Amino acid sequence: MKMSCFTVGWCLVLMCSIYAAPPLPLEKVATADELVAEAQALGTDIHDCLASQDSYDEYGQKLKHATSLLMLVGQALAEYPQPSKLKASGADLRDAAIELNRALGYTAAKAALPAIDAALEGKTTGKAKVDVEWSKLMRYRPAMDQMNQRLPALRRVMRRPKDPVGDSRQMFAMALLSLPMHADPKVKNSADIPEWEAFCVSMQTHLSDATAKLKARDNAAANDAFVAGMANCNKCHERFKGN
Ligand code: HEC
Repeated sequence: MKMSCFTVGWCLVLMCSIYAAPPLPLEKVATADELVAEAQALGTDIHDCLASQDSYDEYGQKLKHATSLLMLVGQALAEYPQPSKLKASGADLRDAAIELNRALGYTAAKAALPAIDAALEGKTTGKAKVDVEWSKLMRYRPAMDQMNQRLPALRRVMRRPKDPVGDSRQMFAMALLSLPMHADPKVKNSADIPEWEAFCVSMQTHLSDATAKLKARDNAAANDAFVAGMANCNKCHERFKGN
C-alpha cells in the first residue's frame, strides 16, 4: 500500500502527541547517577523540613521548592534513556512528590512522606504511568517564579562559593526548571514556539554548564556560564512579555 505524505505526516503528529517525550534530551541535563543523587538529597531536605511542626512552619517555601523539584527529577528518572536504580520507581516518586506538594498542613504532609521514602528505596506501586506531559507537570509560570525565588540564594553562591556539592545543587535546580518552561510556551502565534524553546535550551545549557563548573570549583567559569544563562530571562521578556 502506498501512503501519501499527508498520511505519514498525520501519523507523525499522532505519535508525537501520544508519546509525551521529555522536552529536552535528558542526557544533556544530567547523568542518571546525578539524578539519583539529587533525588536522595531532596528526600533528606524534605525530611528536614518535616522534622517538626516548627520546621514545617519555618521552611514552607523550601519544602514547596524541594517537592516541585523532586517531581521533575522523578519524571526525568522514569524517562531517562539509560537504566538507574530509581528508573523503575521514578514515576512513583513523581506522584508521591506531587501528593506531598499539594498536602495542606503538617499532618497531611507527614502522611505523604512514606510514599516518597518507598519510591526512593526503588519500590514500585505499579500504578504510576511513565508518560505524562511536562507542561502539565508544571506550567511555565510557576517554573519561572521558582527560578526567580531562587535567584537571591544563587547570587550569594556566585559571590562566595564555598561548598561545591551544595552550591551546584542550587544551580542544577535552575537548569532543571528550564525543562517545564520549554514544554509550555506562552506564545500567541505557534510559529514563535521554536524561538521560545531556543531561549529555554540556551538557559538550560548554560546553567548545566555552570553546575558542572561549580562542582569542579572553577568559580570564574561558573559565573560566566550563570550570567550567560540568565541573559535569556531578559531576552525572552523583551520578546514575549506582554505579548
Ligand atoms: C522562554 C521565555 C522566558 C524566559 C526564559 C524567562 N521568562 Fe520570565 N516571563 C516570561 C513571560 C512570557 C512573562 C509574562 C508572564 C505572563 O504574562 O503571564 C514573564 C514574567 C516574569 C516575571 C513576572 C514579573 C512581571 O513583571 O510580570 C518574573 C519575575 C520573571 N518572568 C522572572 C524570570 C526570571 C528570573 C527568568 C530567568 C531565570 C525568566 N523570567 C526567564 C517569559 C520568560
